Amino acid sequence: MARGGAPPASPPPPLPPSGPEPLPRRALRKLLLVLGSLLMSLYASYCLAGAAHVLTREPAPIPVAPGEEAAPGTPRNPFWPPQPGGEGDKRLPQAVIIGVKKGGTRALLEFLRVHPDVRAAGAEPHFFDRNYERGLTWYRELMPRTLDGQITMEKTPSYFVTKEAPARISAMSKDTKLIVVVRDPVTRAISDYTQTLSKKPDIPTFESLTFKNRTTGLIDTSWSAIQIGIYAKHLENWLLYFPIGQILFVSGERLISDPAGELGRVQDFLGLKRIITDKHFYFNKTKGFPCLKKAEGSSKPHCLGKTKGRTHPSIDQKVVQRLREFYRPFNMKFYQMTGHDFGWD
Ligand SMILES: *[C@@H]1O[C@H](CO)[C@@H](O)[C@H](O)[C@H]1NC(C)=O
Ligand SMILES: *[C@@H]1O[C@H](CO)[C@@H](O)[C@H](O)[C@H]1NC(C)=O
Repeated sequence: MARGGAPPASPPPPLPPSGPEPLPRRALRKLLLVLGSLLMSLYASYCLAGAAHVLTREPAPIPVAPGEEAAPGTPRNPFWPPQPGGEGDKRLPQAVIIGVKKGGTRALLEFLRVHPDVRAAGAEPHFFDRNYERGLTWYRELMPRTLDGQITMEKTPSYFVTKEAPARISAMSKDTKLIVVVRDPVTRAISDYTQTLSKKPDIPTFESLTFKNRTTGLIDTSWSAIQIGIYAKHLENWLLYFPIGQILFVSGERLISDPAGELGRVQDFLGLKRIITDKHFYFNKTKGFPCLKKAEGSSKPHCLGKTKGRTHPSIDQKVVQRLREFYRPFNMKFYQMTGHDFGWD
C-alpha cells in the first residue's frame, strides 16, 4: 500500500457477476501469477545450484590403501568421516597436502586425523585447480570448524601438477605449509594406469600409452600417468613461490613400512605434539598394510588395505626398465632439490 501522499484507492464499485473483471482484481491476479512463477524459478535455481554443488564436489572417498583408491562400485559415504558440529569457526587451511595422485595422500590424512589438533575437510575441495573462481569464502565453507590451536587441513593431490596452484595458494597465505607424498614414479604410473583401467577397461595397454614410438623408445611425457612422476619439474614451479623449508616431502613407501616414523616427521613439521606413535598402528601381514588401532570418530580398528580384487596388469619388464632409465635423472634432481634420497633406483 502506498504510504504518504497518495490517498488509499477507494474500493471498486460492485459489478454485476456477469460483467468483465474489475481492473484492480485483474491486476492482483496477474501479480499473484508473476509472484508464483518467480518463486517457482527461484526454487528451481536453488535446486539446480544444489545439484551443481553436489556434482562439483567429490564425495568423500572411503579410505583405502596408500596409493590405492576404492574399487569401482564401492559405496561412497558422503557423511564419512564425521565432522565435529557446532564448535569453533571455519578457517582457511594452514596446511595443505598438495600431492601426489596415488602417492598415499588419503592414508596420510587418515593417519593425521588421529591427532586431536588436526581437523581436515572430508572431501577433496579441488579449489586451487577446478574451483578457484568460486572464491575463498566458498573454500572456507568446506572446512570443518576448529578451536584455537587446531590446524585446518585439506588434501587435493592434483594441486602438485597444477601450474596456477603455487601462486594461488601463496595469494591465500604465503605461510601455508605444504605436504607432498611422493612414491617411486614407476610404481606410481602403473598404479595410476591400473586405477584408470578399472574404470575404463577399453583403454590401450600401459606399454602402448607409455611410448610415442616403441621402436625408438621415445616416452610420451604428455601422458599424465608419466607426467605426474616428473617431480623435479613440478617442484620447480612451487619453488618460485615457496621456500623449500615450507614443503615437507613424505615418502609413500615409508608411510607403509614405518607409518609412525613418517608421522613423527609430519607432526614436527606442523608444529604439533608427537601424539601419533607406534601405539596407534599395527601391521596386517596378510594385507601388507598398516592399520590404525582406532580410527578417528570410530571405536573399530581401521585398515588401509589393498583394494580387494584389483589385479595389477603385468607390465613388460623391458618397459619398466626403460621407464626407470627415463625417470632416473629427474629423480636425482629431485633428491638434490629436496636433500632427501627416496631410494627409488
Ligand atoms: C618409429 O621410429 C622408427 C625408427 O625411427 C620409424 O621407422 C617409424 O616410422 C616410427 N613410427 C612411428 C609410428 O612414428
Ligand atoms: C588382516 O587382513 C586380512 C585380509 O584382508 C583380513 O581378513 C583380516 O581380518 C585382517 N586382520 C586384522 C587383525 O586386521
